[in-house]
Amino acid sequence: MRFDIITVLPALLDSPFAHSILQRAQKKGLAEIVVHNLRDYSTHKQKSVDDYPYGGGSGMVMSIEPFAACIEKLKSEREYEEIIFLTPDGETLKQTIANELSSKTNVILLCGHYKGIDQRIRDLFVTREISIGDYVLSGGELPAAVLVDAVVRLLPGVLNDETSALSDSFQGELLDAPVYTRPADWKGHKVPDVLLSGHEAKIAEWRHDEALSRTKKRRPDLLE
Ligand code: ADE
Repeated sequence: MRFDIITVLPALLDSPFAHSILQRAQKKGLAEIVVHNLRDYSTHKQKSVDDYPYGGGSGMVMSIEPFAACIEKLKSEREYEEIIFLTPDGETLKQTIANELSSKTNVILLCGHYKGIDQRIRDLFVTREISIGDYVLSGGELPAAVLVDAVVRLLPGVLNDETSALSDSFQGELLDAPVYTRPADWKGHKVPDVLLSGHEAKIAEWRHDEALSRTKKRRPDLLE
């Protein structure tokens, strides 16, 4: 799967894709993540990518030309199934959306800044608008990194243990049960006996019960 991310701050995306699972996915050739600097597509002398809003008001608006030039160049090279704009007024990212996107081959992500992007970019190019939650960030780069992480870890072969993505919180309807590792007793705080029992069926039952009570307490909406 390939992601093309269009941003004015490519440096913000250096680190998130350079470590751990996302790095491994790229090394294995399972994911390709290409970051494009929007300023490279500006025809202005100062490489500006924004302008004053028509009708007045505070803040700058990102212009259509650089976005259009970058998107059109990418579209001339391959077909894209989705062009996603990260925005707080989009549909909220859920595991189901990550699952859905993990079946795509080529996806473009647009990162906005300032007051927003010219509405015509959204009307003419964007196929889907996604928010990572009900709060406002300074730009779409961190949301883009969140989206890519959520999707890439689902691609077949990315996780070593094929079953581990399937048992994640949100992948079923329950949150995860608590987990423990050594020592079995830390200053009198003990690991539940059942986990040390070696009794697989009892452990599975305990995990299910814990997952259920955690879900009831924290996210009853998931059980509705
Ligand atoms: N850009 C700014 N805030 C955002 C959010 N919460 N989700 C997606 N994109 C954003």
